[in-house]
Amino acid sequence: MIRMGLRNSGNISYSRALFAESFNRLLSTQAGGKLQDKVALITGAASGIGKTTATKFINNGAKVIIADIHQQLGEETAKELGSNATFITCDVTQESDISNAVDFAVSKYKQLDIMYNNAGVPCRSPQSIVDLDMALFDKIMDINVRGAVAGMKHAARVMIPRGSGSILCTASVTGVMGGLAQHTYSISKSAIIGIVKSLASELCRHGIRVNCISPFAIPTPFVLGEMSQIYPHVNSQRHADIIHNAGVLKGVYCEPNDIAEAALFLASDNAKYVSGHNLVVDGGFTSFKNLDFPAPDQVQ
Ligand SMILES: NC(=O)c1ccc[n+]([C@@H]2O[C@H](COP(=O)([O-])OP(=O)(O)OC[C@H]3O[C@@H](n4cnc5c(N)ncnc54)[C@H](O)[C@@H]3O)[C@@H](O)[C@H]2O)c1
Repeated sequence: MIRMGLRNSGNISYSRALFAESFNRLLSTQAGGKLQDKVALITGAASGIGKTTATKFINNGAKVIIADIHQQLGEETAKELGSNATFITCDVTQESDISNAVDFAVSKYKQLDIMYNNAGVPCRSPQSIVDLDMALFDKIMDINVRGAVAGMKHAARVMIPRGSGSILCTASVTGVMGGLAQHTYSISKSAIIGIVKSLASELCRHGIRVNCISPFAIPTPFVLGEMSQIYPHVNSQRHADIIHNAGVLKGVYCEPNDIAEAALFLASDNAKYVSGHNLVVDGGFTSFKNLDFPAPDQVQ
């Protein structure tokens, strides 16, 4: 088995990743991928987790609509991913943009099988609830929560008549446990986990599955931007190292591809009986705490 993201393996790890991706592409063209002929819309797919997932979906036979607020980057990404990727400008805070993106997918491909509400932004605000800036809170909730709800609403609008579909969202480990981020971001991500359960309860009657993924920290542009403000005196490689070293699973670290694999599973028929689930991809980080008692010979 190829293990990606081995620590300290630099170029070897990168070439293995490239080899694995080319191998997957070959498999999908020869044998039909896990998402053959499916149509997916991914918000926030111009970069990071969304872009990696779009690549994986296409390599597994899907057509992907890349919906992102960042027009230039979105167009470049779509060009890079080839003819099965199409970009549409979409600000998830504008319900009409989401509605248009969903209608665009249906008019172009006659169907929408997968809606991945992935767009999200970080938030820097004072640590204490006493100092919470309610205007900033509203702004983050507008993107991270309301944007995802609007995506689910319009996906459901076109999926219900067909009686099938898979809706995904990106939550976070910060929504699973308290204390991993400041309140606003944490609240926005725990809301996603609850919304997924609420919607799954209705949409199951229409054959539509609703799930989310909670990634551990990954050095995407989103996180690196935050890290550069906290540690302006070191470079992005050092920022990435700090993120990677925060993980608990020895020998590997969390990468966009790990989230794309989780999304591929949840979007595909392999997960045909999985709904209302939060798939936590964190190497076990949120599952335990160690007491770290001193060794017996160290206690007098
Ligand atoms: N990177 C991490 O450590 C991490 C961990 C847990 C969860 N997440 C979540 O993963 C998701 C993707 O983040 P990423 O790490 O890939 O970051 P990223 O910055 O690489 O990608 C985010 C994308 O969302 C787009 N976007 C931002 N605001 C938007 C809006 N209003 N409408 C449409 N698109 C918008 C951006 O242009 C960008 O392309 C986010 O929801 C984030 O909260 C990230």
